[in-house]
Amino acid sequence: MAFTYFFRDMQTLEMIRDYAIPTLRTKRNIKVWDAGCAMGPEPYSLAIILRENMGNMMFRNVKIFATDIDGSNLFQKIIESGEYPRDQLERIPKDIFYKYFSPVEGTDNYKISDEMIKSIKFMKHDLLSLKPVSDKFELIMCKNVLLHFTYEQRVEVIKMFYDTLIDGGYFVSEQTQKMPPELEEHFRQVVPNAQVFQKVV
Ligand SMILES: C[S@@+](CC[C@H](N)C(=O)[O-])C[C@H]1O[C@@H](n2cnc3c(N)ncnc32)[C@H](O)[C@@H]1O
Repeated sequence: MAFTYFFRDMQTLEMIRDYAIPTLRTKRNIKVWDAGCAMGPEPYSLAIILRENMGNMMFRNVKIFATDIDGSNLFQKIIESGEYPRDQLERIPKDIFYKYFSPVEGTDNYKISDEMIKSIKFMKHDLLSLKPVSDKFELIMCKNVLLHFTYEQRVEVIKMFYDTLIDGGYFVSEQTQKMPPELEEHFRQVVPNAQVFQKVV
């Protein structure tokens, strides 16, 4: 199973909250792509951050495409059920946990709210196909995936993200993933201490 957990890299989520969400709030349709989402903690953490900072009316405009190559063939089932064992939810801030999760009777599992489940559409997808799952994304998050690719593959995948973002759309990766120099002029780094970029045209 892929390594992932809820609210992994809180610093980057806070940057999304502070820098991307104020722009997203002005949009009618907010399309987000979480590429390499594993079994769901990352797209659900993102959905919670968006919901917390947008309110329920505006959050109805959010659609998160959560995609993964999914070698286990299990991610869709897990993400669509929204159920996770208690020990996988320990890192979630307590107020958020009690607000969004409820116990599943007869198990040690907790289920995330239907509002969160409805905001996410899982699709099996290979990033190396270089075919985007949709277009006109406001925000693309791809963390701890690109490091598995060759340098040339990383450049091609980030180029695909660039082409499928709207003008001014955001691309987010993990702290250790630097932007390849040949793509630097296509993106503006929003803050020096996180890999949060805005598409430049
Ligand atoms: C370490 S996990 C990262 C999960 C999550 N993004 C995070 O940071 O917590 C890496 C994920 O990348 C996915 N992956 C690897 N190669 C991929 C590809 N070519 N296309 C799409 N997903 C891929 C794996 O299946 C795995 O779920």
